[in-house]
Amino acid sequence: MFEIEQKVIDESRQGEAYQGIEEASQSSDKRFYIESYGCQMNFSDSEIIASILQTSGFGSTKDVDQASLILLNTCSIREKAEQTIRKRLTEFKKIKKNNPALLIGVLGCMAERLKSKLLEEEKLVDIVVGPDAYRTLPQLIEEAETGTKAVNVLLSREETYADISPVRINSNGITAFVSIMRGCNNMCAFCVVPFTRGRERSRDNSSILDECRDLYERGFKEVTLLGQNVDSYYWVDPITNHAVDFAMLLEQVAYISPQLRVRFSTSHPKDITESVLQTMKKYENICKYIHLPLQSGSTRILQLMNRTYTREWYLAKVKRIREVMPECAISSDIIAGFCTEDDNDHLDTLDVMRNSKYEYSYMFMYSERPGTLAAKRYQDDVPMELKQKRLEEIVALQNHLSLESNKLDLGKKFEVLIEGNSKKSNQHWMGRNSQNKVVVFEKNGTTLKPGDYVTVDVYDCTQGTLIGNIVS
Ligand code: SAH
Ligand code: SF4
Ligand code: F3S
Repeated sequence: MFEIEQKVIDESRQGEAYQGIEEASQSSDKRFYIESYGCQMNFSDSEIIASILQTSGFGSTKDVDQASLILLNTCSIREKAEQTIRKRLTEFKKIKKNNPALLIGVLGCMAERLKSKLLEEEKLVDIVVGPDAYRTLPQLIEEAETGTKAVNVLLSREETYADISPVRINSNGITAFVSIMRGCNNMCAFCVVPFTRGRERSRDNSSILDECRDLYERGFKEVTLLGQNVDSYYWVDPITNHAVDFAMLLEQVAYISPQLRVRFSTSHPKDITESVLQTMKKYENICKYIHLPLQSGSTRILQLMNRTYTREWYLAKVKRIREVMPECAISSDIIAGFCTEDDNDHLDTLDVMRNSKYEYSYMFMYSERPGTLAAKRYQDDVPMELKQKRLEEIVALQNHLSLESNKLDLGKKFEVLIEGNSKKSNQHWMGRNSQNKVVVFEKNGTTLKPGDYVTVDVYDCTQGTLIGNIVS
C-alpha cells in the first residue's frame, strides 16, 4: 500500500534516469524532444537548453515521433552511463530511417568527453554540444540543417547562464533546482567531471536570488541550490566589490520567505564550513539535510583518491554537524573497489558508515574513466566479483542504517511539504520532511493540496518511507 521512494542502491542518480519534456508545446513546425541523464546539474541544464530553444522558435514535445530534433543530455560518470546512451542512440536509428530530416544531438558530459570522435563513432549524430556551449545551439542546428555536422565543445571560465530563465521540465510546481555554480576544481582521482565540466565558477548572487524569488512567487515551495561543490561558492560583486560566500548566499535565499524551503547539493567534506552549519541552524526553512560524500572510509584509499581528508577528519566533521544540529540527516556517496582497495580498506568503509549513521547513501562500483588521474596512475585491479561483493555488503549495511534511522522517528512529529499523491494510492499524500525523508499519510478527507505544509505524526516506517497521520 505504501511506496518505498528512497531506493538505497541507486545507480541511476548519476547515470540512467531520463525524462521527456513536460511543458506544453508551442505551435511550431520545429519541435524538440529532450532526454536527460546523469546528475541534477544535467537536469537543470536541460531546463536552460529548453529555454534557449523556445526563445529561438522551437516548440517542445514529449512524443519522440513528433520531434524534428532529438536531444540527449548525457552523462559520463561511469562506463554504464555511456553504454545507456549508446543503446538509446541505436533505438533512434529506426526513427531516423523513417524521417531522414530528423536531427539528433548529443549534449552534456559525453559530448564533452568524446568531442568530434562521437560523430565518427555514432554516425547518426548530427550535433555535438558541450555543457558550456548551449547558447550556440540555435546556430549549430541551422548548420546541421544544411547537412554539415555541427560541433561546439568549448569550455568556458565564465559561462553560468545566469541571465537565462529556465523552462521547468517535469516540474511538480512545488520543488525546483537552481544552479549556483558550474564546473569543479577538485581533482578526485576517479572523477571525469573536472574534464567534462571545466573550471569552477560561481553565478552572480543577484541572479540566483531573482530566480528563487520568481519561483516562490509562482507557487514553488522548495529550491535546491546546485553545484558540484556548493561550499566553495564565491561571488564578488564587480561594482561594490562585496564578496558573497556560500553561507551568505544560503542566508539570502532563506530570507526570501520562511515558507520557501532551501536545500543544497553537494558538499565536499573538506569545504563545508562552521558558518554554513550555523546558518542552517539559524533558519528553520533551511532543510536539515547534508549530502556529504565519503567515497571511502580508508585514509590510504582517500589519499589515492585525492579527496584531501582522512577518515578521522571526516568523522570529526560528521560529529560537528550532529553537535550543531542533532536532527540533521546526512547522506553519502560510496565507491566500492577503487584501485588497490583491500579487505581492510573495505572494512574501514563499513566502519565509517556505521559511525556516521547515514540516513541514505548512493553506492557505486568503481568504474575507470579514461583520462582521469586514477586511469593514468593506478591499475583498476580489484576484480569485478569482489567489487560486486563489497558493494552488496555496503548496500546491506546502508539498508540496515536507513531502517534504524527511520525507526528512531516513530512517535515524532514532522512538518511535511506535500508534493503529490503517494505513488501507490491516491488516498494518501506523499511529501518530505526537512531531513529529506519521504513521508506518506492518509488524506482523511482534508482539503490539503500539493505545496501545503502539514504536521504529520509518524507511527510506522519502512526502510525508505515514514508513515504517519495528519495532526489536527
Ligand atoms: N561533486 C559531486 C560529484 C558528482 S559524481 C558530488 O560530490 O556529488 C557523484 C558520485 O559519483 C561521486 O560522489 C562518486 O561517488 C561517484 N563516482 C564518480 N566517479 C566515479 C567512478 N569513476 N566510478 C564510480 N563512481 C564514481
Ligand atoms: Fe568529481 Fe570530486 Fe569534483 Fe565531485 S568534487 S565533481 S567527485 S572531482
Ligand atoms: Fe554525469 Fe556530468 Fe553530472 S558526468 S554526474 S552528468 S556532471
